[in-house]
Amino acid sequence: MSLLVTETDLRSRRHAPSGRNDGGPNRRRFAAGLPRVWSSAAWVAYFEGNAERQRTIPWYRGAGASPAELSQIASSLQAWQLGETSDGSHLLAAAQDYAATTGDPDFVQAIRLFTAEEQRHGANLGRFLDLAGIERVRSNWGDTLFRALRYAIPKMEVWATPVVMVETHALIYYSAIRRATKSPVLRRTCEQILFDEVAHIRFQCERLAILHRARPLPLQALTMGTHRVMFAAITIAVWIGHRQALRAGGYSFLRFWREAWRKMGQAWRLMSPEAYCWDD
Ligand SMILES: [Fe+2]
Ligand SMILES: [Fe+2]
Repeated sequence: MSLLVTETDLRSRRHAPSGRNDGGPNRRRFAAGLPRVWSSAAWVAYFEGNAERQRTIPWYRGAGASPAELSQIASSLQAWQLGETSDGSHLLAAAQDYAATTGDPDFVQAIRLFTAEEQRHGANLGRFLDLAGIERVRSNWGDTLFRALRYAIPKMEVWATPVVMVETHALIYYSAIRRATKSPVLRRTCEQILFDEVAHIRFQCERLAILHRARPLPLQALTMGTHRVMFAAITIAVWIGHRQALRAGGYSFLRFWREAWRKMGQAWRLMSPEAYCWDD
């Protein structure tokens, strides 16, 4: 099985409710090949199913990383571990507000399960740090900056936009860490995170497509221009904070930059309202 699920895999997950894409008033447009966004209930089913299908991490083997490997990645892993451990209270408040406004109570549960998945990433990375004798940190400048961006305004769009950008970087980062170590524990942890983040990106992108859909075209163009400026800044910040670990995983700045924009381009296509078939 490939390391990352593809977009097509995700659309056809057996855990998605059946009949979701079965036509109805938009049968003609669906026949053209456009998917619908998943309902919140479908995302709840996905997250519940994914929690049951976690890869087994061979903790009994210990950290299994050499001092040379750890010297390249330890401080960076400390920061990502912290970033994965948010308690989600700001997000939950924004989600409750959004769910009440849109009449979609299942969305709150989807967000709870999404947060639990991120916390699982943080817990597994933390357990690896403990095994390797590396201290967990309580603060990091990148994490502080990222939290400030997310919490600036308690709205789903303001939260989801930087998150999808950092999750795009996570796809590069954890594949670099996986290459930078021979530790079976850390490699399996990275594989699980990489698998999960593909779905997370789709989860955020679908929500953004819903939110962007109501926006007039000039405003939408302005939004996407702002995204590009924000993404350039976040990409540079991630490189500055994690270049040693990224280099250990085979990324020069140029390779990282190009790969980040390529992956974000996929996310931008996924958050375009034109990428979906809508019922109204
Ligand atoms: Fe994560
Ligand atoms: Fe994520």
